Amino acid sequence: MKVPLLDLKPQYLSLKKEIDDAVQRVVDSQYFILGSDVTKLEEEIAEYLKVKFALGVSSGTDALLLSLMALGIQPGDEVIVPTYSFFATAGVVARLNAKPVFVDIDPVTFNISADLIEEKISSRTKAIIPVHLYGQSAEMGKIVELASKYNLAVIEDAAQAIGAQYKDGRCVGTIGDIGCFSFFPTKNLGGFGDGGLITTNNEKLYHIMKIMRNHGAEPKYYHKIVGGNFRLDTLQAAVLRVKLPHLNSWSEKRRQNAIKYNNYFIESGLSEKVGVLKFDSKNKVLLPKAVYSHLESILNYHIYNQYIIRVEKRDQLVEYLKKNDIGCEIYYPVPFHRQACFSYLKNNDGEFPNANFAAEHSLALPIYPELNDEQIKHVVYTIKKFYFE
Ligand SMILES: Cc1ncc(COP(=O)(O)O)c(C=O)c1O
Repeated sequence: MKVPLLDLKPQYLSLKKEIDDAVQRVVDSQYFILGSDVTKLEEEIAEYLKVKFALGVSSGTDALLLSLMALGIQPGDEVIVPTYSFFATAGVVARLNAKPVFVDIDPVTFNISADLIEEKISSRTKAIIPVHLYGQSAEMGKIVELASKYNLAVIEDAAQAIGAQYKDGRCVGTIGDIGCFSFFPTKNLGGFGDGGLITTNNEKLYHIMKIMRNHGAEPKYYHKIVGGNFRLDTLQAAVLRVKLPHLNSWSEKRRQNAIKYNNYFIESGLSEKVGVLKFDSKNKVLLPKAVYSHLESILNYHIYNQYIIRVEKRDQLVEYLKKNDIGCEIYYPVPFHRQACFSYLKNNDGEFPNANFAAEHSLALPIYPELNDEQIKHVVYTIKKFYFE
């Protein structure tokens, strides 16, 4: 049985007519940059997330870069980021010649360890970028509290987490000063190419970012500030507007798939329960835990953009799964403090044990909504064969 890491075709086929019509409508109009589809998408997502302002941009990476530019981050400023995330989270900081300051992750959630942030704050610190990794909220309460104590901006990297909720029920990306989202095709809400979105409740920041999205022009061809081309394509917005009403049901299916995985791993004897952090004879596979999932509510709503296990002999398992036609991926093999491009920061590897453990043992399994029960069971029992045969 073949189980790809992600198969986008069933989702497209289920909405083919609406999507094709939306694309044709844009093609017929011959209007391809921003326009009413982008404005409507912004309004619809602002309503969905319950935030005042949303701004469609060219990618999740550009959402982060534009946020830092709008906050006036300067060369030499420090920005605190988790050491374990997709490269863009730290890359945007370095691109402005500011200094990314790395913090280890929490071993349960894989998100920035809020308790380790304060010791990294200096007189040069200007902002914190918590990442809601894999689709689960970071510990926003503590982060926002620290930020207000030290007068820092909070930019939420919600690229993987559209629709995820913090434990108080607020959507991620609406809690800090700015939220950044990605519509990369693999995301729960994925476009037909690159795209992203910025959210904020701050009217002044919204206005600055809106101008900076289009080279800082206001009015056209008059520039008080320098921006860039951070615009979202009309075609992407038209496709995303068709998909948005289905986002909740897709995320819910991912959550159900995560529960099925957990149950099959426990049934198979590879794991004892969720949230175990050390390997032993009863836990060959460490299962992800949505914190507070014991509460019978939608609080701390994890949208499972990725379902991540931690395993021993990970790299051999990857080879074995590939040989058996099962897709998997390592998100991420190298934390920022170990990246060659950041060696100039001279970080101490021993300071980041949880990120190092994650980098050496994490493995993403297929979790997309259309996956069926048989496929999930097959993945788990193929992994069992690897360890016990
Ligand atoms: C955590 C995180 N931040 C930022 C990004 C960048 O988004 P994009 O690929 O749309 O530029 C991604 C995308 O993969 C991501 O996962």
